Amino acid sequence: MLMNKSVRVIATSAFTNLRWFAIQVRNSVSTVKDFPKMPDCKFVPSAYNGANYETVERAYKSVVSPSLKQFYKEPLLIHEGRRQWLWDHRGKRYLDMFGGVATVSVGHSHPKIAAAIFEQTSKLNHVSSVYMHARLHEYVTKLKAKFPSKLKVVYLTNSGSEANELAFLMARIYTRSQHIVSLQNGYHGATYGTSASTAMSTWRYPFIAQPAGYLRAVYPDVYRGDWGGSRCRDSPVQVAGRKCDCNERECIASEKYFEKLDESFRFNLPCTRGVAAFVAESIQGVGGAVQYPKYFLQKVCDYVHKKGGLYIADEVQTGFGRTGEHFWGYEGHGVEPDIVTLAKGVANGFPLGVVVTSNKVAESLNSALHFNTFGGNPLACVVGSTVLDIIEEEDLQQNAYVVGTYLIDRLSTLLSQFPDVVGDVRGKGLMIGVELISNSETRTPLQVERVLEIFEDIKNMGVLVGKGGLHANVLRIKPPLCVTKMDADFTFAVIKEALEKHDGKY
Ligand SMILES: Cc1ncc(COP(=O)(O)O)c(C=O)c1O
Repeated sequence: MLMNKSVRVIATSAFTNLRWFAIQVRNSVSTVKDFPKMPDCKFVPSAYNGANYETVERAYKSVVSPSLKQFYKEPLLIHEGRRQWLWDHRGKRYLDMFGGVATVSVGHSHPKIAAAIFEQTSKLNHVSSVYMHARLHEYVTKLKAKFPSKLKVVYLTNSGSEANELAFLMARIYTRSQHIVSLQNGYHGATYGTSASTAMSTWRYPFIAQPAGYLRAVYPDVYRGDWGGSRCRDSPVQVAGRKCDCNERECIASEKYFEKLDESFRFNLPCTRGVAAFVAESIQGVGGAVQYPKYFLQKVCDYVHKKGGLYIADEVQTGFGRTGEHFWGYEGHGVEPDIVTLAKGVANGFPLGVVVTSNKVAESLNSALHFNTFGGNPLACVVGSTVLDIIEEEDLQQNAYVVGTYLIDRLSTLLSQFPDVVGDVRGKGLMIGVELISNSETRTPLQVERVLEIFEDIKNMGVLVGKGGLHANVLRIKPPLCVTKMDADFTFAVIKEALEKHDGKY
């Protein structure tokens, strides 16, 4: 029988929706004996009706910069997200334990953010900083309240790299010094200046001369570095197999790493006016959730201040309650920054970066004109402001603490279950790393191909995690802050299953 066109369209779309519904039911009921079972999710995503997978993949291969690498042998085509869940074009559901690289702080497609964007965009999208608008006033006032009183000036940019670049500029003008000191294994961005402060060979291009004025000093990793003990880390889990003879309020590893840093200063920097700023993440993110020994940041900050430099806390990954115990990661180190930089979780995926500093430091930018077209636009301000509200209303910092600690504890059991593969479990709140090795004596990183197999298996069982560290052998877990203990159980079970499979194979 011949159908007219509109009947055909209705029939086709009814069929697509039916098929979609069937996939959702199969996903949640999980009839196959595919242990472990994914926690339920009531939300039903819309049917995917974008370009087919092959077309998108071809476009990625030919039009998108080849330097932008996708995860997985068969890269995921993500179609929709809700809270901690993502769906691909086939309707397969994933638990997102990576949060778009620690960026989706309050959950995918949060209805409150969607409503705020809709309301704002129907009124005003952009004016530029040459005019005032109330959204900026509301946002910076709210954000400022989260910092110590001396940090009262807020400058809005579009990304973390831009925020760090601006922080470096301010510090240099303010101190009239040139050098930015950062830590080895740190990541601070991909622009010319910030990539020079980033200290990992994997992010370093050959042939490209580094700009002058950067010093990358010491690698204070208590697991992989030269020193570390059994009480060094501000984490529920300490390094396995390392001893510690330190007294209360003392950390020998910290002293040792500090001596190394001092040595770098003495050999590399001028004796006076040497350092404009020391920049550090509170927990190294891209570097694989590396935590410094206790008191290390305090010591370095005191030292840098004595030398006339500023301390820039890069809170791009560790901010907004992710570390659980505190709203800002630096608070866990007992230090007070002169400048704080923010991005990623600040706006749940909306492009926004922030520099927060004191009046005195901010004044430095007055010696010339400075301008940023998009920075501080009404939409970004509304999203940033809504993110702050949601974190408070949904008690997400506390959730990061409770669920994060629970997950870290569970993951730590993998150390004894897979001693030859799991070398270290570390982190704080929902900023977690699981370091994979091939030899527990030498701590040799697990071969990349094997890490990738484990990584693929975890994805195939429905959990998305990241990978990082200099050797790309650290599973990075930094989900939206709304994940539950059930999600943590599922993540643990899936990672364990992937490790068992690896064990069985090799
Ligand atoms: C700690 C840290 N700082 C800065 C940046 C740069 O941020 P963006 O990619 O928004 O430029 C990143 C990005 O991963 C980061 O992890």
